[in-house]
Amino acid sequence: MAVERTLVLVKPDGVQRGLIPDILERFQTAGLELLGLELTYPSEDRIAQHYEEHHDEDFYPTLLDYMVDQPVIAVAYEGVEAVSTARKLVGDTEPHNAAPGTIRGDHAHITTQHANNEAKPVKNLVHAAEDRDAAERELNLWFDEGDLRPVGRLDTTHIR
Ligand code: TYD
Repeated sequence: MAVERTLVLVKPDGVQRGLIPDILERFQTAGLELLGLELTYPSEDRIAQHYEEHHDEDFYPTLLDYMVDQPVIAVAYEGVEAVSTARKLVGDTEPHNAAPGTIRGDHAHITTQHANNEAKPVKNLVHAAEDRDAAERELNLWFDEGDLRPVGRLDTTHIR
């Protein structure tokens, strides 16, 4: 098992629904150490780079609408098997497939739109880098290397 770093985003629906404390607490409880945290309104260029593998998907334009110039919390974590741990906490991409106990399973609403398969993009609250290479690429995209250092325990009860 290796110590890794990973990149998590609380997406606009997670920020706007007041779920920041709950989401950050879950990563902390799982043993991931905070290295950096920033509230930002990402540019189209940044979201395009973040989701570079999805440019040809039919949902891509709606993904831009969902994320660009909207409040997003970028978080850097470090820990043993941090990449797979974060992915496990986040759960399946589709809220209706995400297991109870995961962030998406517990919080992402399954609306009538979702049921009719009309909802694009899938609003699923949170992102976690898929693998170690993606994690390092995404950390470089969202943070300056010099800003990443162990922060210590975050008291999430004060974040509202
Ligand atoms: P993806 O990288 O496949 O999922 P994950 O976030 O679980 O790693 O897709 C990136 C995001 O694109 C996903 O979180 C939501 C959106 N998306 C859609 O809107 N529709 C889709 O059919 C898929 C696959 C993804």
